[in-house]
Amino acid sequence: MWVEKDSKKNIYWPSSEMKKKAHVSDEKIYDESLKDPVKFWSNHAKKSLNWFKSWEKDYEEDFPDFKWFSGGKINASFNCLDRHVENNGNKPAIIWEPEPVEEKEQILTYNDLLQETKKFANVLKKLGVKKGDTVGIYLPMTPHVQIAMLACARIGAIHSVVFSAFSSEALKTRLIDAESKILITANGYWRRGKKINLKKSADAALPDTKVQKVVVVKRLEEDLGMKSGRDFYWDELMEKVSDDCSCEEMESNEKLFLLYTSGTTGKPKGVVHDTGGYLIQSFLTTKWNFDLHSDDVFWCTADIGWITGHTYSCYGPLSNGLTMVIYEGSPDFPEPDRFWKIIEKFKVSAFYTAPTAIRMFARLGKQFLEKHDLSSLKILGTVGEPIDLDSWNWFFEVVGKKRCPIIDTWWQTETGANVINALPGIGPFIPTVAGRPFPGIVADIFDDSGKTVKNEKTGDLVLKSPFPPGLLRGVYKNPEKFKDTYWSDYPDVYYSSDGAKFVFNKNIRVTGRIDDVMKVAGHLLSTAEMENAINSCAGVSECAVIPKPDKIKGFVPVAFVILKKNFKKSEEFADTIVQSVRKTIGPIAKPYKIIFVDELPKTRSGKIVRRMIRNIVSGEPIGDSSTLENPNSVNFLKKVIERELK
Ligand code: WT7
Repeated sequence: MWVEKDSKKNIYWPSSEMKKKAHVSDEKIYDESLKDPVKFWSNHAKKSLNWFKSWEKDYEEDFPDFKWFSGGKINASFNCLDRHVENNGNKPAIIWEPEPVEEKEQILTYNDLLQETKKFANVLKKLGVKKGDTVGIYLPMTPHVQIAMLACARIGAIHSVVFSAFSSEALKTRLIDAESKILITANGYWRRGKKINLKKSADAALPDTKVQKVVVVKRLEEDLGMKSGRDFYWDELMEKVSDDCSCEEMESNEKLFLLYTSGTTGKPKGVVHDTGGYLIQSFLTTKWNFDLHSDDVFWCTADIGWITGHTYSCYGPLSNGLTMVIYEGSPDFPEPDRFWKIIEKFKVSAFYTAPTAIRMFARLGKQFLEKHDLSSLKILGTVGEPIDLDSWNWFFEVVGKKRCPIIDTWWQTETGANVINALPGIGPFIPTVAGRPFPGIVADIFDDSGKTVKNEKTGDLVLKSPFPPGLLRGVYKNPEKFKDTYWSDYPDVYYSSDGAKFVFNKNIRVTGRIDDVMKVAGHLLSTAEMENAINSCAGVSECAVIPKPDKIKGFVPVAFVILKKNFKKSEEFADTIVQSVRKTIGPIAKPYKIIFVDELPKTRSGKIVRRMIRNIVSGEPIGDSSTLENPNSVNFLKKVIERELK
């Protein structure tokens, strides 16, 4: 048993066994780290990472810019690979489970991973990639993706990974903004027993970008069209290079990667992460939050296309020299017990997944778990959106058999690594509550006047100086956007766009986004980006995309569309709109429903009042409609929504 129930409240505490085993189990860590957060992070960075040259200054701030470990020289690839090889070269680094059941798992040891990474770094150099260049990566979950990322890091190139289920257009926008000259992709991959032709999407994205060379992983047997002079197979390139490649010495604040995330405007933002700061927060949160020791096996189910994949399926576990599992395919293929099978097969000790997956499994039923031995599990983790009480209980009781703590980690693409969560050896584990800020991180919840909220009132979640080492350093090529989005709502703090409140004495419960983005199956989507896709359809006059609560996905997008005169509402037209969103963003953004309306509630200045539509859709109080330009539209809309969505 790793947890015990509190005798009075519905909360849990680490058992004495857990306290004994845990890396940290003394409550004092919080107060002590906050006495001097800079010292806390510097001590850990010194102790836990290898530096070619130590830093001159630990922390500097010229709001909103800040730097960690200035003058220090470090390389992420060295910290993830080279330094483990001497003592642990034969230890598995990656256990890769392909989707087809006939295909056997593949194990890459630290020796293997280092060798492949060095070779691929030489491939990149041969293709002309230099320090500071951006490299686009559009790959499925096969070890090539970690190799490609670590190879970039090795030579100081900046990787920009794009989720493989994003559409060509989404890829194109990101390749153009990042000015990538090279793209690494695959001819395809397996998903739910089907072959997905990734090469076709990659090809369609390339016109109008600066991409000159494409490296193609041959995951499928088929030759899916190679353009001579531009496209090269990964394996063929790897045959022709040496396996020796030293690491570029990077100044700690130099860029490690870009990762695009959705914002409140139609254009995704290129979130910039640095090297040393990002690496220490990734290292320490992986080690402490999942209490990982050298024999443990860690599995984070996130795709590499998201920050969770970057940090917990690459840099975090590998910098710790741990063994991690990665899986290519769908959780319910060939049967809905695939995840439980994988946990049993590889004796996974810590399992990190998302509420949307938990809701899906809960609906499928516990019969799929019962035939599997999940006793290797010690820690369960969740991320991506607020977890509801039913899902928390199901995860705790059915998956963890009431033995394992649930580590509910709040963070964002922007924070680079976990920021708020309980620690396994300290607790408490409170259903639906993330917990306290990780040691060394200063968070607060503000009311409208920028003061700490009183009692259990909801307010805005902010981070205070010294800013966490993993926090973003910019929006690529857009310092104005960086300032406006994160640093302008209150003086001197980072604004997260999440609502939150304090419960149980300084523990934080995150209630969700307060800006115009929505979480669909844990994926952050911008309503403006979806609206742009819809508005580009000939015949659409204007529209509003609204999140509708959904039992499995958390939210699904519903589009309210006003047509131009002379255009007729029809099912075909609704389908054209749906396809346009799919094509521009990807299948995850597909609207659940298109509802044609004649008008929408508007302010006198002509702005659609989305908050009001959202309230009607989720059955909440509508609020004051008297100041609207068209107050009658509200009753009309209520009826339409009742008819179409109930
Ligand atoms: C948004 C960030 C964090 C990596 C994956 C998503 C929501 C995330 C939690 C949690 C409540 C959460 C927030 C946040 N979120 N984790 N444990 N409890 N909400 O990264 O796509 O940048 O999304 O996800 O709303 O702002 P992202």
